[in-house]
Amino acid sequence: MVMTADIGVIGGSGFYSLLDDAEEVEVTTPYGPPSDTITIGRIGERTVAFVPRHGRDHRFPPHRIPYRANLWALRALGVRQVLAPSAVGSLRAEYGPGTLVFPDQLVDRTSGRAQTYYDEGGAVHVPFADPYCPVGRALAYSKATADGWNAVDGGTLVIIEGPRFSTRAESRWFTANGWSIVGMTGHPEAVLARELALCYTPLALVTDHDAGVDAGEGVTQDEVFAFFAANSERMRSLVGAVAAELPLDRACPCGDALNGIKLPFDLP
Ligand code: ADE
Repeated sequence: MVMTADIGVIGGSGFYSLLDDAEEVEVTTPYGPPSDTITIGRIGERTVAFVPRHGRDHRFPPHRIPYRANLWALRALGVRQVLAPSAVGSLRAEYGPGTLVFPDQLVDRTSGRAQTYYDEGGAVHVPFADPYCPVGRALAYSKATADGWNAVDGGTLVIIEGPRFSTRAESRWFTANGWSIVGMTGHPEAVLARELALCYTPLALVTDHDAGVDAGEGVTQDEVFAFFAANSERMRSLVGAVAAELPLDRACPCGDALNGIKLPFDLP
């Protein structure tokens, strides 16, 4: 049986499964295997493919995640819209743990990660002024609000290289720049989605105040993992509700990202 899916979900730290009644699929890509076996199942009228970003056993640290393989595999399965839950730190006192942010901008502070599919065979420059799908964001925000989340529509996610957390000075600088939240995995995931003309919607769950906001000892891995794990059922239910209602006919610009560009190879 050929398995296909409409919606892709890339689960973050503490979010290792989504679908109850799922089939496992092995997908090979020119970039190696994805982070883990992909599971495909139904949510309402939609078929959803799920891949745990760090692997089920959390074996990939943020800088080692096979981002290109994950997005390629999802597209190869037919996915055109991706939902991307992740744990983030807050750069603002008013966004406490449990706040769910739907950013509309990103700042890339990573270094050395493979961040493009178009390394050779001609230049491909995708538009990225607005990195996230506006339709996905509006729907996710409205579902989260209806579900009682303390939700924030918009804001800037800064992505650090990690795997260490930020120093207090770095964190204060991020805040001073007006950025809202900090994470380690949002880049290159979003740009790779754009390079494949996929919609990409981050759901960023604040697990901690970052070091510059909190007067305490600074953030720890245990704190982040424990908070996300405690909220994973609620996140699962929200992601499912959003996936079930994403319109399959895309009215956003995301699918046009490659229009008029000569690609060096065919997309899956
Ligand atoms: N993920 C969760 N909390 C974080 C933080 N404070 N900095 C970077 N990534 C995070």
